[in-house]
Amino acid sequence: MAAAARPILIAPSILSADFARLGEEVRAIDAQGCDWVHVDVMDGHFVPNISIGPAVVAAIRPHTAKVLDVHLMIAPCDAYLEPFAKAGADIITVHAEAGPHLDRSLQLIRALGKKAGVSITPATPEIAIAHVLDRLDLILVMTVNPGFGGQAFIPAMVEKIVALRAMIGDRPIHLEVDGGITVETAATVAKAGADVLVAGSAVFKGKHADYGGNIADIRASATAAV
Ligand code: DX5
Ligand code: ZN
Repeated sequence: MAAAARPILIAPSILSADFARLGEEVRAIDAQGCDWVHVDVMDGHFVPNISIGPAVVAAIRPHTAKVLDVHLMIAPCDAYLEPFAKAGADIITVHAEAGPHLDRSLQLIRALGKKAGVSITPATPEIAIAHVLDRLDLILVMTVNPGFGGQAFIPAMVEKIVALRAMIGDRPIHLEVDGGITVETAATVAKAGADVLVAGSAVFKGKHADYGGNIADIRASATAAV
């Protein structure tokens, strides 16, 4: 699909939301223009941080009809695919580095009736997923080392985004970027070929007090660049 025809989608990461009011926060970004809700799952093993599990996904599900985009930073992952599917995830993304059987994990996600995504950390080359493209609905390029919000964007990831956009070709696969996305870097990644932008601190702790203003600024910057 030509760059101009690809709408830019914004997926705020609730890792930067107020966890004490998560339902309210999800309703707020929903009402103020987000396209998807990005949910970061961390196990304290694959990444040096612990966040949330299936029970929290189930708790936020009734607060939005929008896509729950669940990013699993856990290893191993297969045993948790069904619990997250049952909790209400729409997209389940596993890391290519989480274990030796990525092709099997992607098949499991689709067998659960969900959209399948793969994520690669900054050091992992795009070629690592070349042989599972037909199992994918989404590719998530980490533009920071996973584990925390509020980190700086890694510029070396831009050429990886360009390479993946070419690798995807005409396949119906979303190209999502995650980490250090701001109004400034949004233009860079959209121009490189990304169509889904995850943003945590730039939405929940951005320039505007209202989340809608921050979402609109990021979308406008990305859209103007394609
Ligand atoms: C980091 C997570 C990201 C993070 C993004 O491992 O996967 O989704 O929350 O936060 P910002 O946009 O603040 O870099
Ligand atoms: Zn994420």
